[in-house]
Amino acid sequence: MSQTKPNDEQSISLVTELIGLPIENAIWNAAGALCTTEKELHNLGQSQSGVILSKSCTLDPREGNPLPRYWCSERAPFMTINSTGLANQGYKFYGKMGYQLSAEYDKPYIISVSGLSIEDNLNIIKELQGKCHAIELNLSCPNVIGKPQIGYDFDATQDLLNQVFSIPELNTPLGLKMPPYFDLTHFDQMADIINQFPISFITCINSLGNGLIIDPIEEKAVIKPKNGLGGIGGSIVKPIALSNVYNFRKRLNSKIDVIGCGGVRTGWDVFEHILAGATAVQVGSQLVEEGTSCFERIQKELKEIMRIKGYLKLEDFRGKLQSM
Ligand code: DHB
Repeated sequence: MSQTKPNDEQSISLVTELIGLPIENAIWNAAGALCTTEKELHNLGQSQSGVILSKSCTLDPREGNPLPRYWCSERAPFMTINSTGLANQGYKFYGKMGYQLSAEYDKPYIISVSGLSIEDNLNIIKELQGKCHAIELNLSCPNVIGKPQIGYDFDATQDLLNQVFSIPELNTPLGLKMPPYFDLTHFDQMADIINQFPISFITCINSLGNGLIIDPIEEKAVIKPKNGLGGIGGSIVKPIALSNVYNFRKRLNSKIDVIGCGGVRTGWDVFEHILAGATAVQVGSQLVEEGTSCFERIQKELKEIMRIKGYLKLEDFRGKLQSM
């Protein structure tokens, strides 16, 4: 048998630490991507996904928006659009799944919460205490008619977080799913708010809200809800995602992890997110297109990149983006 060389794939680790737990593989699903049903959650459990993250849930189950509400095409493999409208089975279902999933899989279960009001969010967060390893509170769903993205309203975000962190029974780690920001003053203002609270992590970014993809042959939008407006994902959002990871990492206190999400298709994309400062990386559009086998492939690709560069662990290059 040949001896293991120090830079063999086997000696390269993708372990990361989040919410005080070691996580075997720093790559997992984005909320919304193949994580709504019992079967989908089990598929994530059985896959190489480092975490099982649920679909954003509301107080009551929801059918969501009319179909078609998701679009992806080989003609434009670099972008997707979705307007699911928070179709989900209600928070009680995702809470119950915690017992099953924790018994079967040795990986954390995180529930994404997207209540339709402050009161709903507070109630759901209270009820989910002890039923999951963490909650990812969604400040950025763009697809419910009449409900603006709270993360773009700084006063409303401050108010919501004041109330969340006043919940007496709060002991489950809490993260935030952020919308994309495009102006440096917005990073400053939002980081000032987030730094006031014992937040475990933020995830950057949600889709680019209210985009419009047009089919010029049909002279129609490609999805039905909101006259075709929906959240844009896929490779084209990667530069915005990387900038958000980088800008928040620079501004947040070091106890708050930043999870990268946006435009991740390959090991190189994960590598770039981690270089920008991400503790872990989520996969959305590519997971929907490829299925859960994407995790194994992306991990393999990342390990090969690390092997060639001589890195053994993620800390060897995390946040080490160089200036020109
Ligand atoms: C939906 C889309 C999002 O981007 C999100 O954060 C939550 C829900 C949706 O349309 O279901």
